[in-house]
Amino acid sequence: MKDLTNKKILFIICGGISAYKSLETIRLFKKYNAEIKTILTKSAKEFVTPLSISSLSQGKVYDDLFNLENEAEMDHISLSRWADVIIIAPATANTIAKLSFGSSDDLASTVILASNKQIFLAPAMNVRMWEHQSTKDNLKTLKNFGYKVIGPVTGDMACGEYGEGKMSDPIDIFNEIKDFLLNKQKNKKIKALITAGPTYEYLDPVRFISNKSSGKQGFEIAKSLSKKGFNTTLISGPTNLEVGENINLVKVETAEEMLKATQQNLPADIAIFSAAVADFKLKKMSSTKIKKQDNLTLNLEKNVDILHYVSNHNSMRPKLVIGFAAETDQLNENAIQKLSNKNCDWIIANDVSKNNSGFNSDYNEVVIHYKDNKKKTEKLSFRKKSEISEEIVDRIVNHISNG
Ligand code: PMT
Repeated sequence: MKDLTNKKILFIICGGISAYKSLETIRLFKKYNAEIKTILTKSAKEFVTPLSISSLSQGKVYDDLFNLENEAEMDHISLSRWADVIIIAPATANTIAKLSFGSSDDLASTVILASNKQIFLAPAMNVRMWEHQSTKDNLKTLKNFGYKVIGPVTGDMACGEYGEGKMSDPIDIFNEIKDFLLNKQKNKKIKALITAGPTYEYLDPVRFISNKSSGKQGFEIAKSLSKKGFNTTLISGPTNLEVGENINLVKVETAEEMLKATQQNLPADIAIFSAAVADFKLKKMSSTKIKKQDNLTLNLEKNVDILHYVSNHNSMRPKLVIGFAAETDQLNENAIQKLSNKNCDWIIANDVSKNNSGFNSDYNEVVIHYKDNKKKTEKLSFRKKSEISEEIVDRIVNHISNG
């Protein structure tokens, strides 16, 4: 097994009987040379001691937000930036609830709130607490934020009951995080290109034709790719969205500019086309502001098709080309047609007829169709665009690992 030298892990231990299992998890990471820092919540100290953790991890153990010595050495923001990955194990029902509404009343929650890294949770609690609707809702919120949940598993509990809620075994937690870290390292060498947002096609210097795309879906995909370590370039039409860390953002306005930026960023290994590129542009843009008149006829012509250009490139076609198909009717039929016409490997059919999803919403609902007809069509039902993005990127990672 490859080792984890230079991989930095921030362990957050909450107060639960399975806190003792974290010692074994830390030991596994140390065995593979990972660097570890640990935060103990106040109640975690009732179950494990800072001394036992620091002896095993050979790293600093933090426990108090307002400890001047700690803040001088490494403040809570730097601590969250330091880590490659954050693991909360055991994650109690209380911590899960606090994180879901963004509480930051101690060091653990403050660091998590300030983090831009992948966060893993290994829940552990009584079966009734695990099955409670509030825990389910809180976990759903955290999954929407992009947190990964490991376990829990079913078995006998410390409280004497039997059911789902036991923390996963240390080896399973270790394996999942090790795979994430090693994939991330491998993905750094893989270049991913994403187009996002609308384009503006100018009539004159101040007016343009455009559409309702906010860029949210494409930005979320770029974020998910970057979190998994891909060398990510995002080519975006006009939006007011913030771009995540480590993403190379290229801003454009028109379809012509988007094509040029795409050409400049080839070759790429993966290309995802989520932009809503205007299909038409003015045959001739007026160089001065068009004067007010009773009627105006616009002479439009077909715009460049960026996806078609890339997917049919002789020498620089990415190994994986993924298009989107925004449809208001006959969703799957039209998408399958585009899969073939645009020579994509996958097409993501996006129903844009609803008000609560699709264009300019935080939510979406899509169906993925594959060129490889051995692969089954998959529906990702109504959920946050961040979650849709994670699902798409997980499939990309699987596709790459399976050659
Ligand atoms: O931006 P949001 O508000 O988050 O909304 C997300 C979205 C609905 C815009 C997105 O999920 C989506 O469906 N994007 C595709 C929009 C679109 O233009 O679809 P289309 O069916 O017209 O185009 C098919 C494919 O060809 C798309 O991958 C598109 O990027 C690409 N295309 C289209 C025309 C063109 N001239 N060049 C292209 O590259």
